[in-house]
Amino acid sequence: MVTIETPRSPRSRKHAQWEKWGWLYMRYSGAVLLILIFGHIVINLLSGEGIKQIDFAFVAGKWASPFWQVYDVLMLWLALIHGTNGMRTIVNDYTERETVRKALNYTLWIVCGLLIVLGTLVCVTFDPCIDQAMRASLEVCKG
Ligand code: HEM
Repeated sequence: MVTIETPRSPRSRKHAQWEKWGWLYMRYSGAVLLILIFGHIVINLLSGEGIKQIDFAFVAGKWASPFWQVYDVLMLWLALIHGTNGMRTIVNDYTERETVRKALNYTLWIVCGLLIVLGTLVCVTFDPCIDQAMRASLEVCKG
């Protein structure tokens, strides 16, 4: 008789706790992402001149405000952790060899960490006025 293993069966009690937090994180982050992504699309693509308005000056203007910096960093962190944890679930469901499963999951979290660090640095250290030509032409640099 063929026995089919329970999907995502926890490897230990401690592991089961982690799976519970992961399961909850997917639901809560999904709900917050729905609001953040919808707001992002409305503000960037549906309001004003739509896609035509998106250029360097538009991004510079948005990131001059701490509100949009926090908004975009939050979206970045939530989506990257959500996507990586979702991929981890898929890897756990489909890989058969433990070494392959571990290698894929480590790679996923390392890439996620690097993207979070790089993306956050871009959002919080971005300074459009650093360039002389930009300083003269951008409204946000004249204040
Ligand atoms: C619009 C907001 C989003 C909502 C409401 C949402 C909701 C969810 C929920 C509830 C799950 C769990 C499904 C399950 O356990 O069966 C899930 C899984 C997943 N999500 Fe999202 N998500 C959103 C955005 C994203 C984004 C931006 C990414 C990519 C960066 C992503 C990638 C994934 C992946 C890879 C899975 C795993 C699929 C699986 O278990 O088969 N999601 N999502």
